[in-house]
Amino acid sequence: MSGSVLEVKNLHVSIEDKEILKGVDLTIKGGEFHAVMGPNGTGKSTLASAIMGHPKYEITEGSITLDGEDVLEMEVDERARAGLFLAMQYPSEISGVTTSDFLRSAINAKREEGDEIPLMKFIKKLDKDLDYLDIDQNMATRYLNEGFSGGEKKRNEILQLMQLEPNIAILDEIDSGLDIDALKVVSKGINQMRSDNFGCLIITHYQRLLNYITPDFVHVMMQGRVVKSGGPELAKRLEAEGYEWIKEELGIEDEETAEQNA
Ligand SMILES: Nc1ncnc2c1ncn2[C@@H]1O[C@H](COP(=O)(O)OP(=O)(O)OP(=O)(O)O)[C@@H](O)[C@H]1O
Ligand SMILES: [Mg+2]
Repeated sequence: MSGSVLEVKNLHVSIEDKEILKGVDLTIKGGEFHAVMGPNGTGKSTLASAIMGHPKYEITEGSITLDGEDVLEMEVDERARAGLFLAMQYPSEISGVTTSDFLRSAINAKREEGDEIPLMKFIKKLDKDLDYLDIDQNMATRYLNEGFSGGEKKRNEILQLMQLEPNIAILDEIDSGLDIDALKVVSKGINQMRSDNFGCLIITHYQRLLNYITPDFVHVMMQGRVVKSGGPELAKRLEAEGYEWIKEELGIEDEETAEQNA
């Protein structure tokens, strides 16, 4: 079986009547790793949330499809069942639900009724993944993300990724706040997902992460659009030179200047 295809076409997204995404085009196929970089506030997290169906984000134009199916018609849980996964920039704390219970429900939600994962099988895989990611066993019995340190939350997102085995994953600043060792562990977790059945969109500010995870494509987002795409060398240039040269090259005005001239 070949992998899934997530297609975002001419996506326009507004929040409270303010247009944030102004025509995003992006295609992610199974087997591909894409990195998205871009200045603060350009809409990277908005893109991630819109794909996952966060109710606050209003799609005003364009389409999102997964293997040809209209994602915008799906409820949030349907999107997860269809094989989409989002590791959020700021993972939420869920009091009263242990990490282990959360994972087991999420796995079972993706399976047919009556075909729930056998408990022993679940525990065995969970133990293996905890070990692989160097996460303390007691994390599984703590409430999800409650009181977790910043780095522990990020590690836990990768645990979810490995447990849920989505077809397409969006990882929003999975490297922020990680110490050097944690960065290696998290990268190792993402790399071991690589297969023809897994496509990944990695939102990051730092080339550093891309030293561990080699992207096939690097995209630059600015002012609500993907303005430039290339290979890993593009990320290296951004790290060295910042974003100004892209604005000059493409003739992109600062948003304030553009508003004044409008
Ligand atoms: N829920 C919201 N309510 C109001 N404005 C919002 C909301 N979410 C996002 N925005 C605005 O939309 C714009 C894009 O935000 P977004 O979080 O997508 O940026 P980003 O590219 O992820 O930035 P960063 O690199 O800082 O994470 C920002 O100007 C932000 O203030
Ligand atoms: Mg963001």
